[in-house]
Amino acid sequence: MALKYPLQCRNHMSCVKEEDKTFTLPDMKTVNFVGRTLSSLSQSMINFLLKLTERNMKKMYTFFNKGWIRDEKLKELTKRYSFYVIAYEDNKTPIGFAQYRFELNEEKTKSILYCYELQLQRRYRGVGLGRHMMGLLEQIAHGFLLKEITLTCQKANKRAERFYRKTLGYKTDTHDPGDPGYVILTKALPPAR
Ligand SMILES: CC(C)(COP(=O)(O)OP(=O)(O)OC[C@H]1O[C@@H](n2cnc3c(N)ncnc32)[C@H](O)[C@@H]1OP(=O)(O)O)[C@@H](O)C(=O)NCCC(=O)NCCS
Repeated sequence: MALKYPLQCRNHMSCVKEEDKTFTLPDMKTVNFVGRTLSSLSQSMINFLLKLTERNMKKMYTFFNKGWIRDEKLKELTKRYSFYVIAYEDNKTPIGFAQYRFELNEEKTKSILYCYELQLQRRYRGVGLGRHMMGLLEQIAHGFLLKEITLTCQKANKRAERFYRKTLGYKTDTHDPGDPGYVILTKALPPAR
């Protein structure tokens, strides 16, 4: 269940430390991050989100479940009350994004940040950018006093599962249904400093 209240109004990137609003690539180019609401996404940005997700994930979707259904993914990517952090190289070229919503946990006892997507173009992977972007989501969650980040990871996506578990410390969620195709992962956030 998504939370609708005044969260729409705030610029989420204001929760992020100034020094984390950019990231330097090994070639010294700069990546900057822009926070977006669903209604502020242009059609060309929506096309970018869909194309990048398709390029990265299509094979894994054919592996399990119903396969890749473009229209369904488009619906998910533009789900109501979604927010986005878009990563740009040199302030102009989008190279990746995270999509998230504020939701209630299974028991409806606490608000959580649910990360729906984290996608990077291939040549920008393995240099710490994914970790950095998940750190941005942690800071946003902190800014809204949320205690947890939850996400779904396809089990066929071994690299991503290792990234979430080993690099970032996510654990299997207590409500993970044990599906052969995917796992629900959660990270409890340390109290705000
Ligand atoms: C999964 C994904 C988001 C991870 O992002 P990433 O930027 O590649 O990950 P990072 O570089 O932050 O960390 C990954 C690894 O690189 C290492 N790393 C971090 N900084 C590094 C650096 N400066 N130089 C080299 N390696 C580095 C990390 O230690 C980590 O090591 P590990 O493989 O032992 O876990 C990215 O690979 C991706 O977009 N994949 C395709 C889409 C996808 O699968 N999304 C997840 C859907 S659930």
